[in-house]
Amino acid sequence: MAGFSYLDDVLTSDGVRLDTVATAVGTPFYVYSAHVIRQRFRDLETGLAGVPHAIHYALKANSTLAIVRLLRDLGADVDANSIGEIDVALRAGYQAGQIVFTGVGKAPSELARAVPLGLKAINAESPGELERIDAIARASGTRARVALRVNPDVDAGSHPHISTGLRRNKFGVALEQALPIIREAARRPGLRFVGLHTHIGSQMTTLEPITRAITLLAALARTVIAEGIPLEHLDVGGGLGISYDGSGTPDLQAYATAVRHATADLGLSLIVEPGRSLTAPAGALIASIVDVKHHPGGRRFVVLDAGMTELLRPALYGAFHRIQPVVRDDRAPATCDVVGPVCESSDTFGTDRQLPDPRVGDLVAVMDVGAYGAVMASNYNRRPLPAEVMVDGDAWRVVRRRQRIDDLLALEE
Ligand code: LLP
Repeated sequence: MAGFSYLDDVLTSDGVRLDTVATAVGTPFYVYSAHVIRQRFRDLETGLAGVPHAIHYALKANSTLAIVRLLRDLGADVDANSIGEIDVALRAGYQAGQIVFTGVGKAPSELARAVPLGLKAINAESPGELERIDAIARASGTRARVALRVNPDVDAGSHPHISTGLRRNKFGVALEQALPIIREAARRPGLRFVGLHTHIGSQMTTLEPITRAITLLAALARTVIAEGIPLEHLDVGGGLGISYDGSGTPDLQAYATAVRHATADLGLSLIVEPGRSLTAPAGALIASIVDVKHHPGGRRFVVLDAGMTELLRPALYGAFHRIQPVVRDDRAPATCDVVGPVCESSDTFGTDRQLPDPRVGDLVAVMDVGAYGAVMASNYNRRPLPAEVMVDGDAWRVVRRRQRIDDLLALEE
């Protein structure tokens, strides 16, 4: 019973009944399948076997400690996008040499902490940032390992909000600007220039943009090496999408094969930074129906005790997530709009969905939320962050308790 499936008409995670978990912890809550994360990590690992590589899990997708530790035990390294994520990684038992630090706006205080740690690489975004890293490294008597993030002007073909590889996007330096910046970085005494980095976007459902970007990055790497600047690695970012609606997307093995081919003859170590593709399908958000309303004209609204505060993706990107009943029975299906409790019309999880004649108290599951779900939750409307549960084998445990009003007020006078 791997992943989410029905057993005797009850939705389970790896065979653990989610109605039972709901009774114990209350709703809404996130539930993660350790099995699915393990399986997906191993698929990628298998696909990359034979080439020197490191899988740096993108913490921004989900940095709940239990998940970070699970991935560490599997042999993952990490990609951090803030000093907060670096701290989480260190507390989860990672060594500095397993962390790459990315981010379009690293604050002076973040660099001041990060540089002396001796990270595997700081993925620099600009000549100015390289200069600042150099200054901090020299002042602290170290040499910072840096890579340069290159923006290859390749369209990820994803939602515009999460496409990052076009010239009009704020990320990295343009391909044609890169060489002089690298030459200068390689001369700076506080820097050790170790690699090139790119990340062109997220939720890519074809491999073509990724391979095009990597091919451009690899060509730049050849030029850099030919100039006598040695490189250790090529960091190709993350971005592989998953299928939210059942339509076909390339799997992790196909992704690994494409990435290997695009970098084959370089002889550099490969870094990938997957987030969503490792954790998204491992998570579901379990919520209760708190109201059912019929409006004149026929719309039926099913109101949940979870909304944009627990899962922002539908409101922010118009993202589609499957919504399923936790308990299936023979009630006739009804067409409904599944919405949250927040006073914004964008607080809608799905329109024209089919649920078995919904009633107050029924449990529903919003699927594929293991990435960019809990991490993007907010306290809007003073709503507490939901509980998070991990299922591992036939056992489950709360890995993050539900926030309480005291937690919310603890920082206030
Ligand atoms: N590396 C870098 C530098 C990134 O910025 C990201 C994601 C990743 C790796 C991981 O990408 P992934 O493999 O997860 O696609 N909140 C959005 C997604 C934003 C992704 C931002 N960067 C969403 O809910 O779809």
